[in-house]
Amino acid sequence: MKMFLLLVLPVLLAAADGRALFVARCASCHNERGDKPLKEGPPLNQRPLTRKQVEGFVKSRLAKAGKAEQRAVTDYILGFLEAPK
Ligand code: HEC
Repeated sequence: MKMFLLLVLPVLLAAADGRALFVARCASCHNERGDKPLKEGPPLNQRPLTRKQVEGFVKSRLAKAGKAEQRAVTDYILGFLEAPK
């Protein structure tokens, strides 16, 4: 049982690591902190987005991720927005 927890716990913790997921799935276009210039408009970190807007976007972009992962990525993005609405 102890062995099982030792093996599974890091996996569970890693699964809800918003930063890691963002870096893996989003940073190619947004940089780690959302500051990569976009030709369509201001960088992600300078957009005045609400939690609901970010949530909606994360859900569509990461449709196959679990709720915990989606929430972790949403929180991570909200953490670097310079002027959240
Ligand atoms: C292939 C490039 C690319 C990848 C990968 C990407 N994005 Fe984006 N994202 C964009 C572009 C380009 C825009 C700006 C679109 C616009 O303003 O029309 C954008 C805009 C956004 C916005 C703001 C939307 C708005 O209404 O202002 C959010 C939030 C966002 N991306 C989240 C994510 C997340 C989360 C991921 C990873 C799961 C991700 N993006 C991956 C290119 C990408």
